[in-house]
Amino acid sequence: MTRRMNFFVLSWLLLLLSLPEINNAVPEPEEYKTYIVQMDHSRKPPSFSTHELWHRSILRSLSDPVDDEESFGKLFTTHSPSFLGLKHNFGLWPAASYGEGVIIGVLDTGIWPDSESFSDEGMSPVPRRWEGKCENGTAFSPTACNNKLIGARSFSKGIHAALGNVSNELDYDSARDFEGHGTHTSSTAAGNHVLGVSHFGLARGTARGVAPHAHVAMYKVLWETDSGNSAASDVLAGMDQAIADGVDIMSLSLGFDQVPYFDDLIAIASLSAVEKGIVVVCAAGNDGSRNSTYNGAPWITTVGAGTLDRSFTAKVTLGNGATFEGTSYFPESIYISNTPLYYGKTDTNKAICNLGALDSKETARKVVVCDNGDGKIDVYSQMEELNRVNAYAGIFISDMPDIDPEDYNIPSMVLPTRSGKLVKEYGLNASEAHIRSMRFMFTSLSIKPAPEVADFSSRGPDPVNPNILKPDIIAPGVDILAAVAPNRAFMETGNYKLVTDYALYSGTSMAAPHVAGMAALLKAVHPEWSPAAIRSAMMTTAYNINNNGTSLTNQLLNIPGTPLDYGAGHIDPNKAMDPGLIYDIEFQDGGRNELNYPSFISILSKDEKSPKVKKFSRVVTNVGDEESSYEANATSSNEMRITVEPATLTFSDKYQKQSFSVSLEISEEAPPVVFGYIKWSDQHSHLVSSPIVVLNL
Ligand SMILES: *[C@@H]1O[C@H](CO)[C@@H](O)[C@H](O)[C@H]1NC(C)=O
Ligand SMILES: *[C@@H]1O[C@H](CO)[C@@H](O)[C@H](O)[C@H]1NC(C)=O
Ligand SMILES: *[C@@H]1O[C@H](CO)[C@@H](O)[C@H](O)[C@H]1NC(C)=O
Ligand SMILES: *[C@@H]1O[C@H](CO)[C@@H](O)[C@H](O)[C@H]1NC(C)=O
Ligand SMILES: *[C@@H]1O[C@H](CO)[C@@H](O)[C@H](O)[C@H]1NC(C)=O
Ligand SMILES: *[C@@H]1O[C@H](CO)[C@@H](O)[C@H](O)[C@H]1NC(C)=O
Repeated sequence: MTRRMNFFVLSWLLLLLSLPEINNAVPEPEEYKTYIVQMDHSRKPPSFSTHELWHRSILRSLSDPVDDEESFGKLFTTHSPSFLGLKHNFGLWPAASYGEGVIIGVLDTGIWPDSESFSDEGMSPVPRRWEGKCENGTAFSPTACNNKLIGARSFSKGIHAALGNVSNELDYDSARDFEGHGTHTSSTAAGNHVLGVSHFGLARGTARGVAPHAHVAMYKVLWETDSGNSAASDVLAGMDQAIADGVDIMSLSLGFDQVPYFDDLIAIASLSAVEKGIVVVCAAGNDGSRNSTYNGAPWITTVGAGTLDRSFTAKVTLGNGATFEGTSYFPESIYISNTPLYYGKTDTNKAICNLGALDSKETARKVVVCDNGDGKIDVYSQMEELNRVNAYAGIFISDMPDIDPEDYNIPSMVLPTRSGKLVKEYGLNASEAHIRSMRFMFTSLSIKPAPEVADFSSRGPDPVNPNILKPDIIAPGVDILAAVAPNRAFMETGNYKLVTDYALYSGTSMAAPHVAGMAALLKAVHPEWSPAAIRSAMMTTAYNINNNGTSLTNQLLNIPGTPLDYGAGHIDPNKAMDPGLIYDIEFQDGGRNELNYPSFISILSKDEKSPKVKKFSRVVTNVGDEESSYEANATSSNEMRITVEPATLTFSDKYQKQSFSVSLEISEEAPPVVFGYIKWSDQHSHLVSSPIVVLNL
């Protein structure tokens, strides 16, 4: 089993019936067909085997003392709202009344309505314009809805037509969530505040969504079935219904295999939505490699994942007194003392805890050290081997551990090779090697560097249309604590099945609802803004410097990223409330003109003769102070010269528009990826930043 992949990839399988034409405004006058699509299970990502192992944050710094979350003063659970700078007394939260009156439609696996995250305490009444409803069905009564959860519908005609019935053992034939994914994404976007929740004691604190007073409507379109299939026609039906019901924001943590927009049902249905002023936010996918983004249509806000500044650790002290801290999600705060250490030093297969290699006579009741053999073996299978031979605990040495929180079923920790090397040396040297103590369940904050671009987050350029820079933006998507469906065991340790109602999940699926929640907050403050204006505000105020003062790095590799990894950067909600200028787009225009996108990308051929020149034109709208004057400042490496014309834009009115052009000149020696930024700044400290990428292929 590899890392949980919280993003549903639906691949086109075979086509069946005839689809109704969708509303209007379809990019091509094609006949539409219903496709039955295969839903690859979250645990078996097919695209994954060919790519680097992905995983969550690991603690690199051994020496930096870190605060336990409990000692941090305030309790923040989901922690991401605080990481995003959302505060009760300042900025977007109070300005937006926490998203009051805004409706977020979530298309997902359903919802667990009984979760405290969907309590309607403190919620305003259901907006009168709302046309949605709460459907009756298996284990789902219309009375489950309230002023928080204002709609719940399920869409299964496609899956029924293709597969017969939804099996009661695998899923609820209703909007109730079996999988947990939809409960997690909904509560991340708009969960109410809930005191004292945790992942088995980890990350303990108060849970809340990004827009805790926004309303939620669930459209269940993903099903657990024998064949692992969901139907594209159900996704389309759900999106059309959400539009008709009157949602303001749509959040989708799923995607189809990348195909041209006119064949991509999410692209088609979201164009209808955006034309009606609905912001459509989609996860960018978990493929982790270049040229792998999903949901890249220019009217969609495409979201990659970043890490938080939080880690979960265990501590071990060796017989020689050396103490090390490593990643651990083992869910019990047990204390192991004076226990023999085993390291299979003489036999490579034993040293890497290869399946079947260990001898329980040698390892039973011991703390077993497992080397990763230069990445040849994954921690998950090593964990299985330690279970097989009754090891007491495990220390896994790996810089790229491929293991989920739910797989920590014996007391264990992952050490980076830097410190793991010292544990191995001790195991090799000492004849009576043992550990003095091993302790679990530490939650630490203020970890550096953060955010990083999650290893699994899909990278640009966009495979369908590389002329739009995707992803647009990144948001927290690693180890996000939110509500889940407590209908079955989350994990097992020994003979115990452990159930939880809040759990840590990772994926771009977790990042998208953060942006959906943020869009709801912006919509509450600026109801007149178009979806493109809301996205522009998020993008031009995003940051690309981490909490250690350097540019955003790629997780695991710790090397600087580029806008192909993080788009415009990491979301900064309070800044997005007052962006100064916006790049607006009216999609009704039919796209005859150059798209007025808040980012720039150009693809040049290596064979092209110098000078390689590219010109863009853009229009910005003043949404800041009436009287303002903006100066352009372009930065890039030496291989690209950026000229902005005019270099000063003067506004005398709100909503006044001004045009400018951007010319790029690329030198002959330019590497394959060149990037820079154009930043407009005014006297009122607005900074309007756009990334510029040139692919020199
Ligand atoms: C609601 O759905 C359940 C389960 O499908 C069914 O037993 C019940 O009769 C339905 N109630 C109404 C009022 O339709
Ligand atoms: C589906 O369920 C209905 C009602 O329970 C039943 O009549 C029908 O035969 C089932 N269809 C299949 C393919 O199992
Ligand atoms: C192990 O032994 C080697 C060689 O004697 C020594 O250099 C090293 O410091 C020892 N390491 C530990 C952790 O004791
Ligand atoms: C933080 O930045 C300092 C100074 O550039 C650098 O030495 C250090 O390694 C960085 N820390 C991390 C954890 O990246
Ligand atoms: C990106 O992916 C698409 C579709 O998979 C492929 O056609 C294209 O050649 C790829 N582009 C690059 C630069 O690898
Ligand atoms: C432009 O930005 C660079 C880098 O942020 C800064 O050093 C420089 O002072 C700025 N120039 C102007 C004219 O603002």
